[in-house]
Amino acid sequence: MGVSGLLWAVRALVILQFVTGILGWGKEGHYATCKIAEGYLTAEALAAVKELLPESAEGDLANVCSWPDEIRFHYHWSSALHYVDTPDFRCNYEYCRDCHDSSGRKDRCVTGAIYNYTNQLSSLYQNSKSESNYNLTEALMFLSHFIGDAHQPLHVGFLGDLGGNTIQVRWYRRKSNLHHVWDNMIIESALKTFYSSDLATMIRAIQNNITENWSNQQPLWEHCAHNHTVCPNPYASESISLACKYAYKNATPGSTLEDDYFLSRLPIVEKRLAQGGIRLAATLNRIFASHVKIAQA
Ligand SMILES: *[C@@H]1O[C@H](CO)[C@@H](O)[C@H](O)[C@H]1NC(C)=O
Ligand SMILES: *[C@@H]1O[C@H](CO)[C@@H](O)[C@H](O)[C@H]1NC(C)=O
Ligand SMILES: *[C@@H]1O[C@H](CO)[C@@H](O)[C@H](O)[C@H]1NC(C)=O
Ligand SMILES: *[C@@H]1O[C@H](CO)[C@@H](O)[C@H](O)[C@H]1NC(C)=O
Ligand SMILES: *[C@@H]1O[C@H](CO)[C@@H](O)[C@H](O)[C@H]1NC(C)=O
Ligand SMILES: [Zn+2]
Repeated sequence: MGVSGLLWAVRALVILQFVTGILGWGKEGHYATCKIAEGYLTAEALAAVKELLPESAEGDLANVCSWPDEIRFHYHWSSALHYVDTPDFRCNYEYCRDCHDSSGRKDRCVTGAIYNYTNQLSSLYQNSKSESNYNLTEALMFLSHFIGDAHQPLHVGFLGDLGGNTIQVRWYRRKSNLHHVWDNMIIESALKTFYSSDLATMIRAIQNNITENWSNQQPLWEHCAHNHTVCPNPYASESISLACKYAYKNATPGSTLEDDYFLSRLPIVEKRLAQGGIRLAATLNRIFASHVKIAQA
C-alpha cells in the first residue's frame, strides 16, 4: 500500500469511527441486546425469527443485529432512524415534538421506526394470506437493532450536540466524543477490566443479574400500556432522563473521563442492555403470538 493508499485507509477509519459514533450501540452492545433477547423468546417467536433470518445469521439473531449500521451508506434514507433528538437541555421526550428527521419529516426517528417495523411484521403475521410489500427479513433486523438503540441514553440526546457527538472528551488517554463513549468505550473498557475481554462472559453476568437482582423488575420492563404490541416512547423517555442524569453530567467539552465516570456509568449501561434485550424479546413474542388478536401499536 503506497502513501496515498495509507492516507486513504486512515481517513476511512476516521470517518468510520465518526459515523459509527452516530449510529448506536457499537457491535458489542447490539450483539449483547439480541443475545439476551434470544433467551426469552417463546418457541413460536423463535421459530418465526429463524424463518425470517438471512443465511448470514447462521440461525442466530445476534449475528445480524448490527446489520442496519453496516448498510447505512447503501440505505442512506435509514440513517435518521437510529436516534431521536430533544430540544437543547430539555430532559424529556415527546413523540409529536421530537420524532422527525432534520428536514422535519414526521415519524422519521428511532421510535417512529420501531412502530413502523413492528407494524410490518405483525400485519403480515395476523393476516397470513396477504403478501407483504415489505422485506420482513429487513424489518426484523431493523426492529431488533432500533430497540437496542432506543436504550442507549445518548440516542435520545440534545439536538445541539447531536446526542453528544460534538462533545469532544478524552476516554482515559484516548481522544473520543461523548456519544462514542456511550456506544463503545464503556463496554470495551468493561470487557478488558472485568470480563477478560470476553463478550460472552459479560453477557452471562448481565443474564445472571436479570434472574438474581432484577427479577422483580422484569415484568415491568416487558409490560406495554393498553396491551400494545410495542411501546418505544417510555424507552426514549428513560433514555433522555439517564442522558441528563449520567451521560452529560460531568462530561463537558474537553474533559477527561476516567475511573470515576467509568465505574459509576457502567451499571447504567449494563442495565440498559438488559432492558433492551428483555423488551425486544417481549415485543417479538407479542408480534408472533399465534391466533391472538393483538392491539395495534
Ligand atoms: C418504514 O419502513 C420502510 C421499509 O423499510 C421504509 O422505507 C420507511 O422509510 C420506514 N419509515 C420509518 C418511519 O421507519
Ligand atoms: C430481503 O432483504 C435481505 C437483506 O437485505 C436480502 O438479502 C433479500 O434478498 C431480500 N429479499 C427480497 C425478497 O428482496
Ligand atoms: C446482585 O447485586 C449485588 C449487589 O449489588 C451484587 O453483589 C451481586 O453480585 C449481584 N448479582 C449478580 C449476579 O451480578
Ligand atoms: C390486557 O390483556 C390481558 C390478558 O390478555 C387482559 O386480562 C387485560 O384485561 C388487558 N388489559 C387491557 C387494558 O386491555
Ligand atoms: C448487577 O446489578 C447490580 C445491582 O443493580 C449492579 O450494581 C451491577 O453493576 C450489575 N452487574 C451487571 C453485570 O449487570
Ligand atoms: Zn443504530
